[in-house]
Amino acid sequence: MSNRVDGDEGFAHFDLAAMAKADQYKLLASVILPRPIAWVVSRDAEGRVNAAPFSFFNIVSSDPPLVAISISAAPDRESKDTLGNIRARRQFVVNMVPEELAEAMNVTATNAPVGVDETQLAGLELAGCAMVDIPRIARSPVALECELFEVLEPGGASTIVLGRIVYAHVRENVFTGPDGVARLHVDPAQMRLIGRMHGGGGYCTTRDVFTIERKGWPLEGK
Ligand SMILES: Cc1cc2nc3c(=O)[nH]c(=O)nc-3n(C[C@H](O)[C@H](O)[C@H](O)COP(=O)(O)O)c2cc1C
Repeated sequence: MSNRVDGDEGFAHFDLAAMAKADQYKLLASVILPRPIAWVVSRDAEGRVNAAPFSFFNIVSSDPPLVAISISAAPDRESKDTLGNIRARRQFVVNMVPEELAEAMNVTATNAPVGVDETQLAGLELAGCAMVDIPRIARSPVALECELFEVLEPGGASTIVLGRIVYAHVRENVFTGPDGVARLHVDPAQMRLIGRMHGGGGYCTTRDVFTIERKGWPLEGK
């Protein structure tokens, strides 16, 4: 803690550069909430399937359609399997996680030895993809086929994978209203996706939604 700034009494203050790396992680992963979870399926050079969740994840561009995933160093091996697989095959699939698969997702986060297929450990059924040679998780309501766009190495323990989404599978019953699919009217309540919250095991649902209308300019009443 350092450098109290005038006018913000009541706040705790953190100079990130002065913090231990573990504390930076603890603080930031507790205040940047909620985070969506990319449940990434990949394949190693021998073709073996791998799955793991990553919550340092988001869509970062719609044109081109890019997702970013931050993969931290593996203490016991050269890299986490997901990163090695993405480097080797330049493809992966991001599956979104519904409430009903939360426990299975957690099983796939286990530090399984290289070559162990976590989708089998978790009893997950797989389905085919269209443009990448990697399976998707059949019961996930959304699967995004991605091709590696770029790997960023910012110089610390994290590697950032940028993936270009080339194909999307979205379960039909999450669309709503007449012509829902053609009009791309998704009802998020039908997906029941979960997000990552604070601490070792905090999660949230996406069921508590409210709406705010966007305002044009000039603002009324100003
Ligand atoms: C909900 C959740 C989110 C996670 N997010 C990340 C993340 O953003 N980055 C990361 O490196 N590991 C993250 N992990 C840990 C990885 O899933 C874990 O290290 C996994 O064993 C990696 O698998 P792999 O070696 O098969 O790639 C997360 C775990 C869970 C349960």
